[in-house]
Amino acid sequence: MASGAKPEGNMLWGGRFTGKYNESIYFDRALYKQDILGSIAFARANAKAGIISQDEFQQIEAGLRKVQAEWDTDAFVIVPGVDEDIHTANERRLGEIIGKHVAGKLHTGRSRNEQVVCDMRMWLRDELRAIEGHLVSLLRVVAARAEKEIDYVMPGYTHLQRAQPIRWSHWLLSHGLAFASDLERLREVVKRVNRNPLGCGALAGNPFNLDRDMITEELGFDGLLWNSMGAVADRDFVTESLQWGAMLMQHMSRWAEDLIIYSTSEFGFVRLADAYSTGSSLMPQKKNPDSLELLRGRSASAFGDMATLMMAQKGLPSTYNKDLQESVEPMLRQVKTVSDSIQIANGVLATLVTNPAKMRAALDPFMLATDVADYLVRKGVPFRETHHISGRCVAESEQTGIPMNELSYEQMKAIDARFDEDIADAFDYEVSVERRSAKGGTSKSSVLEQIEVLTAMLG
Ligand code: ARG
Repeated sequence: MASGAKPEGNMLWGGRFTGKYNESIYFDRALYKQDILGSIAFARANAKAGIISQDEFQQIEAGLRKVQAEWDTDAFVIVPGVDEDIHTANERRLGEIIGKHVAGKLHTGRSRNEQVVCDMRMWLRDELRAIEGHLVSLLRVVAARAEKEIDYVMPGYTHLQRAQPIRWSHWLLSHGLAFASDLERLREVVKRVNRNPLGCGALAGNPFNLDRDMITEELGFDGLLWNSMGAVADRDFVTESLQWGAMLMQHMSRWAEDLIIYSTSEFGFVRLADAYSTGSSLMPQKKNPDSLELLRGRSASAFGDMATLMMAQKGLPSTYNKDLQESVEPMLRQVKTVSDSIQIANGVLATLVTNPAKMRAALDPFMLATDVADYLVRKGVPFRETHHISGRCVAESEQTGIPMNELSYEQMKAIDARFDEDIADAFDYEVSVERRSAKGGTSKSSVLEQIEVLTAMLG
């Protein structure tokens, strides 16, 4: 049989598949702590199974704690070309500390295939729980602001055109409740992340009757993964988490976009704190909403990481394939982006200065055209007709240049005889928002109720 051509000397790897292209240590070192805790739990279970002695277990545990201390203090020295990934690096170092004979027993009945998912699941669980805390803090800021600034009335927009008056707090809660749904989803996702794959071996299971329940408990998992082949193949827990993060960031980008618009001189509803904006290197008067633009921009990479991860899994055959190593980096990167973003959003919102006078000044009597129509509805006129009549009031105002709320009673009466003097009451922004008192609307009572609903979801 003819052998293939010899690789050139300057190629990335030689006859065997080694070297940089194969390595994951430069990113999976982030999982060092989980890797060590997983190894200790695994060794303890092996000691219970009688496959290593108690004394050997104690040496392994003590050695691994030393390895962890090295990572903790940045003293761990990665050996290039030897430490392929975090699992091999930790085991190599353990051997140097306690001797290869005992260290060589750590991996008994274990595979890196189960080890890497164990590390990932523990890491992700902890990160998602921290993110849950950040999200709750952000929502507390939303709730507090919504309560404090409930009297501010501003234009609500559709198509970015002035539509109807709303409370500023109603706007706050429109985004807040979307984030609260994200919170609910997150709590659901964590349940499926926090399952124990350890004791599944390379694919077929553990041959030494390992007590997997004991490992589950020690590592703080909520339960087991019940099929060893599935356990090493599965990255659904990462997919679901990154899909979650992509959607949260999509919500974040829309929230940020509103605030970017509201912070322009043309709107002036809000002013960002200096800590969350930057000046221009050229134009001294400028204050750019960089923080919000980055939140909007990072939603792109959050989506991209999710897409990378999903593509890496497409069409893989059963169980572990090295493609799955590509699931680690998108996870590490996107989860950090999401976590940072929520904390930045919190800072932006907590320090934002609102300008209720500007909000009010942006209101326009035409935004009450629906209220004029509703006025006649209350007098028994069908809405299709009232909509038309109100439209004629708008036209009259446009033609005469007289603001709609300043049309005389006679002018209104001439358009439709059913207008009475109390039509003047329809031209009041407060009255307009207060009329929207059905659950979910912009009246004060409805907004206060939303704050209660949101707060109850925070737990
Ligand atoms: N570094 C690998 C990963 O992240 C660990 C698993 C390696 N397993 C294997 N059979 N080569 O996926």
